[in-house]
Amino acid sequence: MLNTLPARVFITEVGPRDGLQNEKSPLATDVKIKLCERLLAAGVSQLEVTSFVSPKWVPQMADAAEVLARLPRREGLTLSALTPNLKGFEAALASRVDEVVIFGAASEAFSMRNTNCSVAESIERFRPVALAAKAHFLRLRAVISVAFGCPYQGDVPLESVIDLVRRTRDLGCDEIGIADTIGVATVSHVKRVFEAAARELPLNRLSGHFHDTYGQAVANVYGCLEVGVHRFDSAVAGLGGCPYARGATGNVATEDLLWLFKGLGIDTGLNLDAMVQTGQWISGQVGRPYASRVGVALAARQTEAEASA
Ligand code: HMG
Ligand code: MG
Repeated sequence: MLNTLPARVFITEVGPRDGLQNEKSPLATDVKIKLCERLLAAGVSQLEVTSFVSPKWVPQMADAAEVLARLPRREGLTLSALTPNLKGFEAALASRVDEVVIFGAASEAFSMRNTNCSVAESIERFRPVALAAKAHFLRLRAVISVAFGCPYQGDVPLESVIDLVRRTRDLGCDEIGIADTIGVATVSHVKRVFEAAARELPLNRLSGHFHDTYGQAVANVYGCLEVGVHRFDSAVAGLGGCPYARGATGNVATEDLLWLFKGLGIDTGLNLDAMVQTGQWISGQVGRPYASRVGVALAARQTEAEASA
């Protein structure tokens, strides 16, 4: 069944966290803060800033507390951080986040590689985090990784995804993100998974997190829209990847999603031009070619306009 497209969608910008966590060379804390500031100036109101995880596992996120300490707080702005366990939660709380994110996996193999525990053990680690988040009135979000395919296991049964949707819902999550960590999903698969998830909790509490490895991410977001999902994660300049998912390339670029939504007349609250400038800048900072197709096209158009002025 096709839903009417929404007038407004909500984008969580994950560039500073998912986008940078996999960068091999250390990136200066000042650059991360500048990135966050530029994203906020572009209109971002939901910013996934960092992770409170083991610095031995993910060295790039070791400055989580410092980055959060130097960001502004304001009404309507949600700053979030990944917290795999109570230790991470306590550090996130001390850093005054608005939202904590627990992250599980729809495959046992990925759960072990990513968090050194089984899926069932991960839920037991999340339980006190969820309770503490509620006690401190913090928003609680879950992300379910490898929901469409796992780099170690291969195919992931729908039932494994829905089982985790139920378990994280029962922990009291305000929002559950379903993630295509390795970017293999196609539209019909996406629709099947989100339609099944929507039988477990209201659509407005589901979000889509797509990586663009096979170039299907924008199409997959459109598939979600048709199911009635209107919350998405994306990363400026298409940055990103998971250190425990080899070969997985970046997130869907925020610029590419903004172009899709602009064409559909859907409001995002974000400024595309500012996002393109930020995307060009951060790509230079991490020493990578600018990976947003829309961003490259719009930047070239701008250069042409300047040359002929
Ligand atoms: P562990 O080794 O099983 O944990 O790791 P442990 O409790 O035995 O502790 C071992 C050491 O880690 C101890 O330090 C702890 O203090 C420390 P030591 O005594 O050796 O010096 N430690 C911590 N330090 C800081 N913050 C913490 C913390 N917890 C323990 N919270 C753990 C378990 C989960 C910590 C580890 O496996 C880990 O950090 N994994 C990193 C996972 C990660 O960040 N993955 C990338 C994000 S997920 C992702 O990208 C997918 C997503 O984007 C969606 C998608 O695309 O699919 C969300
Ligand atoms: Mg991701």
